[in-house]
Amino acid sequence: MSRLVVVSNRVGDPSKPSSGGLAVALGDALTKSGGLWFGAGEVVDAATPTDQRLHLKPLDNKVTLATLDLSREDYDGYYRGYANGVLWPVFHYRLDLAHFESGHLDAYRRVNRQFAQALASLLQPDDIIWVHDYHLIPLAAELRALGCQQRIGFFLHIPLPPQLILAALPGHDWLMRALFAYDLVGLQSEADMVHLRRYLVAEAHAEELSEHSFGAFNRMLRAGAFPIGLDVDSFIAMAEAPPAQETLATLRQQYAQRQLLVGIDRLDYSKGLPQRMKAFRTLLERHPETRQQATLVQIAAPSREEVEAYGDIRRELESLCGAINGDFSELDWTPIRYLHKPLEREAVPGLYRAAKVALVTPLRDGMNLVAKEFVAAQDPADPGVLVLSRFAGAAEQLTEALLVNPYDTDATAEAILHALKMPLEERQLRHQRMLANIREHDVHAWQRRFLETLMDVSPA
Ligand code: F6P
Repeated sequence: MSRLVVVSNRVGDPSKPSSGGLAVALGDALTKSGGLWFGAGEVVDAATPTDQRLHLKPLDNKVTLATLDLSREDYDGYYRGYANGVLWPVFHYRLDLAHFESGHLDAYRRVNRQFAQALASLLQPDDIIWVHDYHLIPLAAELRALGCQQRIGFFLHIPLPPQLILAALPGHDWLMRALFAYDLVGLQSEADMVHLRRYLVAEAHAEELSEHSFGAFNRMLRAGAFPIGLDVDSFIAMAEAPPAQETLATLRQQYAQRQLLVGIDRLDYSKGLPQRMKAFRTLLERHPETRQQATLVQIAAPSREEVEAYGDIRRELESLCGAINGDFSELDWTPIRYLHKPLEREAVPGLYRAAKVALVTPLRDGMNLVAKEFVAAQDPADPGVLVLSRFAGAAEQLTEALLVNPYDTDATAEAILHALKMPLEERQLRHQRMLANIREHDVHAWQRRFLETLMDVSPA
């Protein structure tokens, strides 16, 4: 059996369940075959010699963690400057927020080259390499330039935008050509596949060999939609465990006379938080019966605070929350409880279960696992309702959610009202169907499908 090598900017310890679903799923695959997980390490002094930057740490489950330290300048240009200052906004359709600076692109290329050099020294001839996300798009091209012939797959966790948005990215042809160094490219949704196909045919003049394979630059690229899922059983087990149950009991007691709504997000401009607050405000304005009743707990975990746009979105969100609370609060009721910090992972399912309604309303999102977690955490006998943006990848699967356009404030407010009033039988039926879907397409199925497809492709 070939060894699996996973490469991602952030590495986790798959033996620790608190590392999250992806780490657990990849850990699962890594432990089966034995494996290596490679990613970015610490920021170190630029004078640190290359041979002192690579660290190997064997874990107790046949998995070795390998990290490469980066200089401050390289890390800033690669992570903050290019990955999160250019690729993240462009891939989320926000050309207006992208800051193109050639120095950042240089750092992105340099770091990908450094990663490739360090990784190549650790590879075995029959390794299977699985690269994750937008930080590392050119990694396979750099590995090929060093003579690596192993099978290499790539999974993009964020959306792939339409052709003309991609085409506005300076250097898009270089970036997209780099995909051809992979044997398989996985995207989150069928919508993303439509964009890839259109881009490749129109901009890269690729030949469409079949629905899922394209020829260009003397290479063949296979691509497909592999929507990522949850580790459903572990999440349900976490919902039944004491920390979540205690959170649930406390919230039930506190909100016995009210209706709890929940939003859990990283504080990111792609998540549509200001639009969500405006819809909630409209609900309170237009439907006075919801005042003193509907209470929104919004967790907005700090994220990428070194990037300017994240400071702006925080100020906007806080001003909206403050104004809503100022205008509608009573001595014994505050409409929005806003927490600018992450919630302890083990408590999260308790909050989901206490809520009657979840608001998952990104303006664009690759998948959005909060939507799936909310479904998994519900009590099937008395489930809450999911209000989900049609622009989240998850909307392709969770068609039984109340799908909304988050830019349409009035319609979103009406959908929230519908969710608050939905009869039990309808809630049960919708929940049953969504639960069956997330069970069938869980994270283990995702990882198996991707790796089986990659194994099917002939190596470079
Ligand atoms: O959605 C892409 C993603 O990489 C997620 O996998 C992850 O939860 C999130 O962004 C975190 O981003 P960062 O590593 O920049 O904190």
